[in-house]
Amino acid sequence: MSGVPDDQESMRRRALDALTTARDRTALLTSCVEDGELTAQHSPLMSPLVWDLAHVGNQEEQWLWRAVAGREALRPEIDSLYDAFQHPRAARPSLPLLSPGEARAYAGDVRTRVLDVLESTPLEGRPLLDAGFAFGMIAQHEQQHDETMLITHQLRTGPAALTAPPPPVLRSGPLPAEVLVPGGPFTMGTSDEPWALDNERPAHHRVVPAFHIDTVPVTNGAYLAFMADGGYTDRRWWRPEGWAQIREHDIGAPLFWRRDGGQWLRRRFGVTEPVPEEEPVLHVSWYEADAYARWAGRRLPTEAEWEKAARHDPATGRSRRYPWGDADPGPEHANLGQRHLRPAAAGSYPAGASPLGVRQLIGDVWEWTASDFLPYPGFTAFPYKEYSEVFFGPEYKVLRGGSFAVDPVACRGTFRNWDLPVRRQIFSGFRTARSAELD
Ligand code: AVJ
Ligand code: FE
Repeated sequence: MSGVPDDQESMRRRALDALTTARDRTALLTSCVEDGELTAQHSPLMSPLVWDLAHVGNQEEQWLWRAVAGREALRPEIDSLYDAFQHPRAARPSLPLLSPGEARAYAGDVRTRVLDVLESTPLEGRPLLDAGFAFGMIAQHEQQHDETMLITHQLRTGPAALTAPPPPVLRSGPLPAEVLVPGGPFTMGTSDEPWALDNERPAHHRVVPAFHIDTVPVTNGAYLAFMADGGYTDRRWWRPEGWAQIREHDIGAPLFWRRDGGQWLRRRFGVTEPVPEEEPVLHVSWYEADAYARWAGRRLPTEAEWEKAARHDPATGRSRRYPWGDADPGPEHANLGQRHLRPAAAGSYPAGASPLGVRQLIGDVWEWTASDFLPYPGFTAFPYKEYSEVFFGPEYKVLRGGSFAVDPVACRGTFRNWDLPVRRQIFSGFRTARSAELD
């Protein structure tokens, strides 16, 4: 498989590169504000940034220093502080956390030791080590927290601390509104992607009847039409729980939007600006996505539909790693990795299109699907139940494809994210679908 190293030296280089890229991002996200802002509670939905910093180091210590290298705990007394299951996010600011200086030093010390482990450990012979899995898992974990920290930055008020250039304008001619994906079986999930996490496994066949899916994610412009048509005040479009949420919290627009006279503005990383109509809508809950789709006479795609649209190549019958093929994501394929702090206009990234011409499946915005977060047939928790297994069930909805905030190491055609259907602070958008037999 292209892009996947097969010898020890290239695996080691890939692991080193992934760990280094993650740490550079963490350093940026935790050095662009004063230390006082690292310990502050910017939102009860989020940890203080200094918690994420030390948690990333602590997970790395647990998996790479202790589990892989078999060494003693460096600071056993702090483990429970950084155990996500012991303290809800809202309670973390009042814990006796490491200070910003201590957290940086601790994460740095762990990293120095881990790089020695990486140098001296054969990346084979144990499931945890095969193809450098544990190193890849920890790089993905840090990148997931880098996205979480970026969400905290978005919730933070005050002057901008982060800046990035806008996404490139890479649009081609007019696109069809939707694409027909033919019915039949396809391979969902993976058994041979070396750093795929447990919930992406194993590969299995799914029969997916023919359906149509939006060529691009739903834009702010399209979402504004739903709003202008009274979408938030017409109960017909809403699930009861969604209706209860918008009534209770007086929700009438995506999070971070505000009306100013005749126009809608949004706050984005400390800057207030007009809502750009051509950009995919961002910061909507699953309930909002579901209501929009019903208003549009459509529905959210199932998770299997989303993955088939993203990976199935009708010419060969096989599933690709990414919509564009098996090559690792490059800047021409997708808006990933916090290179830009916003989604690209709908229709961008022609080089990232799927075989059937679906655009922007990877990057830009996480896409809500209709599906609950459930295990695939043959699932086994690896290496720990608390990554996926404890979250399986109808409470969580699956998101696919990754946002502008996620690094390529933690994003691929099989990657599964999940969250509660009320969540809107995440970098979430959606596209819609309809079954083809209704034609
Ligand atoms: C997969 C994004 C839902 O952030 O809760 C981080 C990833 N797991 N640390 C989360 C994760 C453990 C997880 N999500
Ligand atoms: Fe974590």
